[in-house]
Amino acid sequence: MKLILAPMEGLLDTYLREIITCVGGYDWCVSEFIRVTTMVLPVKVFYRSVPELLNAGVTQAGTPVYIQLMGNDPSVIADNAAQAISLGAPGIDLNFGCPSPTVNGKGAGAILLNEPERVHQIVQATRQTVPVETPFMAKVRLGFDHTDNIIEIAQGIEAAGADMITVHARTSVDKYKAPARWEWLARIRESINIPVIANGDISDINSFSECKSVSGCDNFMIGRASVRHPFLARQIRQSTQQQTIQKIKWTEQQELLLQFSILMRKSDNDIGSASRVKKWLNILTKGSPENQLEAKLLFEKIRTVTKLEQIIQLLKITDEK
Ligand SMILES: Cc1cc2nc3c(=O)[nH]c(=O)nc-3n(C[C@H](O)[C@H](O)[C@H](O)COP(=O)(O)O)c2cc1C
Repeated sequence: MKLILAPMEGLLDTYLREIITCVGGYDWCVSEFIRVTTMVLPVKVFYRSVPELLNAGVTQAGTPVYIQLMGNDPSVIADNAAQAISLGAPGIDLNFGCPSPTVNGKGAGAILLNEPERVHQIVQATRQTVPVETPFMAKVRLGFDHTDNIIEIAQGIEAAGADMITVHARTSVDKYKAPARWEWLARIRESINIPVIANGDISDINSFSECKSVSGCDNFMIGRASVRHPFLARQIRQSTQQQTIQKIKWTEQQELLLQFSILMRKSDNDIGSASRVKKWLNILTKGSPENQLEAKLLFEKIRTVTKLEQIIQLLKITDEK
């Protein structure tokens, strides 16, 4: 079984990837999308988006970070994949799922699901520049506004040489709200021979088990819940290995928050860093039920603090109590 930390633009960046992969349980991460349009992007763009490239393409915990590219021109995407590989990317993922109207208006992201042939061409062209030993995959939704094309798309992605396909079990117009349709994952899995990575609405151990049994998949990508429940992948592993599932103490979560804040010192934007810490804490207030109260109390305490160092001191004091 593989567990994958999802790409989440504006949320799961290098700092949070480092903290979450340190907890353990994930086999690899996928970076936030790098948008490619008409040219090969400069090296600095790749380093800015995925600083792990300067660390052999892995987080401090040693978890590989595959690079996700998003665009619509087969040769431009292929050349950017080659650039990413030359910088040491341990894997490449292609984005065919972004629902943003701006991106879709420019013919990229989920709108491409209306053009199965184009998806096939993009994957095929990119496979030419990604060495066979490098994991190469595509991430799709069930369609743009209908599911009529998804089997053709999945079969096209396999025929074009991808090693795996991640399916976020919603259409693009479903955005993130409607429940994920895991039964589609089973249909797709049965129509192709490459592994399907199941994605959408895995939010705790129960939903993981249900997704596994409905989809029949062995590989899972976790998005929003990975940030709300930083210990989820570890708990899922415990559940599949018939071990006792350890309850997460608030002190452990707070320690992660402290480590995250210390890491944010590396960022050159103090107010931005303080907001990032508060943003994550706010998300934790909706996390594991047994810790929500503590998260809320702490959030109230640091809500108006704008200096990162002050937040770090407050976290240290409450940590010692
Ligand atoms: C804030 C946010 C940003 C996202 N950014 C990306 C992205 O850059 N690339 C991508 O393929 N999917 C992106 N997604 C989609 C997630 O990877 C995932 O497919 C989706 O959230 C469903 O999984 P979940 O229910 O486990 O969250 C994003 C989702 C969110 C909420």
